[in-house]
Amino acid sequence: MCGIVAVTGYRQALPILVKGLEKLEYRGYDSAGVAVIDSNNNLICHRSEGKLKKLKNKLNKKTINGSLGIGHTRWATHGKPVLKNAHPHFDSTKQVAVVQNGIIENYLELKTKLELDGIVFNSETDTEVIPHLIQKELHNLGTLNLENSGSTLLIAVRNVISDLEGAYAIAVIWSGSPDSLIVARKQAPLIIGLGEGEFVCASDTPAITNITNTILPMEDEEMALLTPLGIEIYNSENERQYRNPISLKLSEQIIDKKQFKHYMLKEIYDQPQIAKNWIKQFLGNDLSSFTSINYSFDIGFLENIEQIQILACGTSRHAALIGSYLLEQYAGIPTTVFYASEFRYSPPPLSPNILTIGVTQSGETADTLAALNMEIKRRQSSGKESYKPNLIAITNRLDSSISRLIPNVIDISAGIEIGVAATKTFFGQLLSFYGLAITFAQLRKSKTSEEINNMISNLIKIPSLLEDLIISHNEIAEELAHNFSNIKDVIFLGRGINYPIALEGALKLKEISYIHAAGYPAGEMKHGPIALLEKKVPVISIATPGNVFEKVISNAQEAKARDSYLVGIAPECEGTEIFDYLIPLPLTDEWMYPLLTVVPMQLLSYHIAAHRGLDVDQPRNLAKSVTVE
Ligand code: G6P
Repeated sequence: MCGIVAVTGYRQALPILVKGLEKLEYRGYDSAGVAVIDSNNNLICHRSEGKLKKLKNKLNKKTINGSLGIGHTRWATHGKPVLKNAHPHFDSTKQVAVVQNGIIENYLELKTKLELDGIVFNSETDTEVIPHLIQKELHNLGTLNLENSGSTLLIAVRNVISDLEGAYAIAVIWSGSPDSLIVARKQAPLIIGLGEGEFVCASDTPAITNITNTILPMEDEEMALLTPLGIEIYNSENERQYRNPISLKLSEQIIDKKQFKHYMLKEIYDQPQIAKNWIKQFLGNDLSSFTSINYSFDIGFLENIEQIQILACGTSRHAALIGSYLLEQYAGIPTTVFYASEFRYSPPPLSPNILTIGVTQSGETADTLAALNMEIKRRQSSGKESYKPNLIAITNRLDSSISRLIPNVIDISAGIEIGVAATKTFFGQLLSFYGLAITFAQLRKSKTSEEINNMISNLIKIPSLLEDLIISHNEIAEELAHNFSNIKDVIFLGRGINYPIALEGALKLKEISYIHAAGYPAGEMKHGPIALLEKKVPVISIATPGNVFEKVISNAQEAKARDSYLVGIAPECEGTEIFDYLIPLPLTDEWMYPLLTVVPMQLLSYHIAAHRGLDVDQPRNLAKSVTVE
C-alpha cells in the first residue's frame, strides 16, 4: 500500500513528483507529501492530510529549486490519517527524509531504543524510526567525507535495513548528499525508470511513463543508489547487480479516462475489447482450426495434475470461485479456492500432484504473495517429487512480484486499471479461467472436441453480446440508482456458476457505495438471511436458464413473500415475471453467463455511488494494491 515516487536529475523535482503522485493515488489517498533538497542544500518538505489535491493547493505558486526529491501518497497502517503521520518523515536534525510503503514489524522495539537515546518522535508511524536510525548511522560513519556522500548514505541505509523486519519499500534523501537518492525494497514493489540525465523510482509504472518507457524492476531485497550520473544496484549480499533494462508495453503506458466521468465506468466499457484481445491471444487468429489454448509457457507439467488449489483475495478470489466451478464442473478436476490470508497460516495437509494458482490483478497483494511463498517453500522442503510445486500465476501485471515469483504467468492483458474497485481485471481473470477449464477438459478428455468447439464458439460471441449489454444496462442501472438512493441493505442471490457473481455484486456495492450488502447462494437465504428481509431491503437475484433456474426463481418467491423489492438479472422468459424490475439478459449458453451477469452488478454499484456523489474511483479506506498483511 502507499505510493512512492522519487527523482534525481537535472530538472525541477517538484512537478515530477506531483505528476507521479497523481498516477499513484489509487494506492492510497489518506495523505500526501513531498521533500526536495533545494539549491542551498536545505531539505524542504510539504505535506497535507487527505487527497493529493489538498497538497497541490498547498503547493500552488510555491517553487522549490531542487532536482532531488521524494514523494508519497499514504494508505494508513500505523497511526491515523492525520498530518503528523503523513510522509515524508525526518530525523531530528531534518537532514534525512524517508518515504515508505509497507510495514516495519519491529518498529516498536527500535523506537523504544531510540527514545532511550533521547530521540523525540513526531508521528505515530512505523516509518519514523528509519530516518532517525539513518542519521545515527551517518553520525557513526562520519559524514564529513562529502566526496563520497552518496556511498556514505548507501552504507548508512544498508546498515539500518539489516535491522528492519517486515515487508517494505523506501526512498531516502539526505541534505548532505544533494544529488543521491537511495531506494530499497523487500517484498514491496519498486521500479526504476531510466530517463535522459535523470532517474525516477516509483511503486508502479504509471508514475514513470511521463519520463521514460525504459525501466529496471528492482528484485526483492535489493537497494540502489541513484544519481544523475548513473545507478548502482546491490543485492542483499551487497553484490553489485547488472541487468538489462526493459521497455514497457504500450498498454502499460496509456492511462486515459476518455469521455467518461470516472475511470471505473470507462473500465467497465473496456471489457468487450478485453474479450476481443483475449480471443486473439489465447484462441488464436484462425478459429476454424483451433487446437489448444495458447500459453506463453510449456503446459507439459499440467498432464499429471490431479487437483488444483487457488489462492487469492477480494475480487480476485471471486474470479477464482467461478474458475473453480468451471474447472470442476466443466473440466472435472477437483479444485479448492482459499483466502490467501487464511491459507498462509492454516494450509491443508500436503497432497501430491497439485497445481497451485495465484490470482492477483496487481501481482503485489502481500497476502497472496506470502501464501504462495509459503506453499513453494513447504513443497520444496518436503523432498518428495510428487509434492513439488506446480505453479501458475494469473495477473494483469507482467512486471509485478508474482510474475517474478512464478515462472508460468497468464497475462490477462487488461491494461492498467485505475478504478480502485476491480472491474475489467475481474473480467480478464474470468476469461483466463475459461481458458484453463478448456485446457484441463482437453488434458483429462472430460469433454469431446465437439463440446469444446461449442464452448469456443460461445466465447467468440461474447464481445458483441457485451457491447450491446453494457449500453443497455448502463441506462437501466442509472434509472435504478435513483430508486435506490436511500437503501441501507441489499441482498444478492445467485446459484451455481452465478453464485460468485452475487458475492462480487455485493462486494462492489459495499466498496464504492458504502451500502451494506451481502451475497448468498440463493438456496441458503432461508437459513438465516431471510430474517433481514422487509420492504426496505431489495433483493437482487441472478436467474439464468440452466440447471438451477427454477430453484432460483423459487428462492426469489420466498423473498417476494417477505415484501422485498425484487430485481432480477435474467432473460425475459417464463418465470421472470415475478421480478419487480428486470435487468434483461440475452439467451446464451449457461457456461457463458458470469461474463455477462457481472456487468449489471458493476454498473449498478457504479451508478448508485455516482448518484450519491461519492468518489467512485477512490473509495474511502481502500487501495488498489494491498502490499501489507
Ligand atoms: C484490494 C482491492 C480489491 C482487490 C484486492 C485483491 O483490496 O481494493 O479491489 O480485489 O485488493 O487485489 P489483487 O491485486 O490481489 O487482485
